[in-house]
Amino acid sequence: MTSFTALQVREIAPGQFERSLVQRSVDELPQGEVLIRVRYSSLNYKDALSAAGNRAVTREYPHTPGIDAAGVVEQSAVAEFAPGDEVIVTGYDLGMNTAGGFAQYIRVPAAWVIKRPEGLSLRDAMTLGTAGLTAALCVDKLEQAGLEPGQGPVLVTGATGGVGSLAVLLLSSLGHEVVAVTGKADQAEHLRELGASQVIGREALQAGTGKPMLKEQWAAAVDTVGGEILFNVVKSLRRGGSVACCGLTAGTDFAGNVFPFILRGVNLLGVDSVEIPLMTKAAMWDKLSLQWKLPGLERLVHEVDLAQLPAEMDRILAGGQIGRVLVRID
Ligand SMILES: NC(=O)c1ccc[n+]([C@@H]2O[C@H](COP(=O)([O-])OP(=O)(O)OC[C@H]3O[C@@H](n4cnc5c(N)ncnc54)[C@H](OP(=O)(O)O)[C@@H]3O)[C@@H](O)[C@H]2O)c1
Repeated sequence: MTSFTALQVREIAPGQFERSLVQRSVDELPQGEVLIRVRYSSLNYKDALSAAGNRAVTREYPHTPGIDAAGVVEQSAVAEFAPGDEVIVTGYDLGMNTAGGFAQYIRVPAAWVIKRPEGLSLRDAMTLGTAGLTAALCVDKLEQAGLEPGQGPVLVTGATGGVGSLAVLLLSSLGHEVVAVTGKADQAEHLRELGASQVIGREALQAGTGKPMLKEQWAAAVDTVGGEILFNVVKSLRRGGSVACCGLTAGTDFAGNVFPFILRGVNLLGVDSVEIPLMTKAAMWDKLSLQWKLPGLERLVHEVDLAQLPAEMDRILAGGQIGRVLVRID
């Protein structure tokens, strides 16, 4: 019986949650065809919500969060995977109500598992993680809606966060003019190094909420924050422009009107990285390993071990995240 270390979140009193490292047995893991020895995971906003006891993410505790994992197959009940294969798992129910990647082992359905693409190491894959997959899906949707380099500025909100900073890097490396929106004025230089040609304060996107339309500015946008900021982005898209909406750190609601849609023909594109078909995820990982392989990822990574994760979770919930937190498991 193999025992292993996991980060566990427990409800110690109603509404009060504690995070600690515990020893678990592989036998306690959920059923699934593939047992994976995890080498790296990464911290996403949703993991911090799970660790804080958010029941929209995780219904039952004790629980091990971690929506991302990259590692080596140890046992497989299906022919597609063999012991020793290097694999990636992101999303589906991993880390939500299935014990997640903040542990030395996970056991999951084969239908969640992707073989590591040749062009990415396990470490690279988790440097990107769900955040990188989501940034890529956003850019892909914008391209499908007609975005091409040279059409004008592309806005990225929540630009210093995981999804935001990878979207800035990807868009700029594809030749787009990127305007980064941030609440962290001291990170302007960092965002310029990632490829933003202009950095603007978050407050600029919070003004004018009462107006039905705003001046046309952006050819397209990646919005990671939602709320009123998202609607102000919709109202300031250029004619025919699109915004890919993927996040909620500024809020889940926004008050809207139809004018930008019926007078400027703009598009609001929803992006989900979690429940999309495995084939779509695999195609995006292939792209991230080849034609969309990102230069200089090390600039935005901060590596921690499981014991250091709780402090990082507090930081991400407080909106203080800069770049990506890579979690070294072994
Ligand atoms: N749809 C999907 O499949 C999917 C996948 C991944 C993530 N997400 C969502 O996307 C969002 C970003 O995820 P992440 O992992 O990149 O999180 P993150 O690293 O914490 O980044 C979020 C960023 O949002 C900005 N922010 C924080 N609080 C804010 C507030 N009150 N108002 C406005 N901006 C605020 C901050 O950037 P600045 O300080 O630079 O403004 C922060 O760094 C989350 O809501 C997450 O749940 C969705």
